[in-house]
Amino acid sequence: MDQTKKTVLSCIQPTGDMHFGNYFGAVKNWVDLQAKHNCVYGIVDYHAMTMPYSPKKLRENVWNLVFNLLAVGVEPDNLFIQSLVPEHTELCWIFNCYCPFGNLSRMTQFKDKSKDNADMGKEGFISAGLFDYPVLQAADILIYKADYVPVGKDQDQHLELSRVIAQRFNNGVGKEYFVMPETLHTDTPKIMSTADPLRKMSKSAGEKHYIGVFSDEARIRKQIKSAVTDTGETPVGEMSAGIQNLFRLIKAAGNQEEAYQSLMDEYKAGNLKYVDLKSVTADALVSLSHTFAERRLALLENKKDVKQQIKQSSHEIRKKAQQTLKEVKELSGLLNVKY
Ligand code: AMP
Ligand code: TRP
Repeated sequence: MDQTKKTVLSCIQPTGDMHFGNYFGAVKNWVDLQAKHNCVYGIVDYHAMTMPYSPKKLRENVWNLVFNLLAVGVEPDNLFIQSLVPEHTELCWIFNCYCPFGNLSRMTQFKDKSKDNADMGKEGFISAGLFDYPVLQAADILIYKADYVPVGKDQDQHLELSRVIAQRFNNGVGKEYFVMPETLHTDTPKIMSTADPLRKMSKSAGEKHYIGVFSDEARIRKQIKSAVTDTGETPVGEMSAGIQNLFRLIKAAGNQEEAYQSLMDEYKAGNLKYVDLKSVTADALVSLSHTFAERRLALLENKKDVKQQIKQSSHEIRKKAQQTLKEVKELSGLLNVKY
């Protein structure tokens, strides 16, 4: 690892399809940051257990996400699977003892998700793991002494808690051991659902509210064709949320710059045809999706080797986590196992 570079850490839950909201909001940034920094990216399967889940599906989702992330450009050496680095959970316990209970009670993600679980009736159950989720996230970040954490805006509160825990730990052990991690946001504002441009694109809202990066071409075109353009709440003279979102998608894709400009000129002149805007949006997404799908297919031809490679990179990344945990146990007054 190059010591002069900054460390970037981020993680994603293996909970189903990757969509253009995740991709443009976070994952594209992960890919771009690799040129400048030491990057560590995790697939957090321990976190995925905090909501009702199926064990068989969890393992499938993990490997599926490995292939998706590699296909969009994450380098295999930078990728690890959280359950292959169990030190995260041990550090989580130590951090539990430095984390104020009141801060956890105020987490909006906990409130939202426990409401989702409660709404599921008997199927839903609010686990202590869901409550403790942000402490494990703090361990993910601090175990690699991350300087930067690229995530969407919805994660700000969790990042703030990581800094609270780091500071309390430093105060408790009497040493400025952890550096305070900073959040990095992308230039792309939130991507909205094309079916309802007033809510964010997301898996949890149902199938029509997200466009999968690896969906087939016909489906992507159909979803864009039926995109809502008029939400009926736009003040005169302003661009509607639906139109804004389509322009945003074209811009984020970065492969239709001339068409973007001429559509924008037409909009300003008052003669934009929505059918043209939609067709350019669909072309932009389909072209990206094709490139990624081809790479994914090539990776799947060597499925076994790729899986082995990620187990190996997790093993290498684990060494850094073990070193931090050893130092933390020492500072905390715990004993270290000698192997
Ligand atoms: P999730 O799929 O909700 O676990 O999110 C994974 C990452 O993608 C997080 O960093 C989120 O902040 C980001 N993200 C999720 N949905 C969107 C969206 N609609 N627009 C922008 N970023 C998003
Ligand atoms: N909570 C994050 C999300 O829902 C996922 C996550 C877990 C994470 N651990 C992390 C993100 C550490 C950044 C750093 O998207």
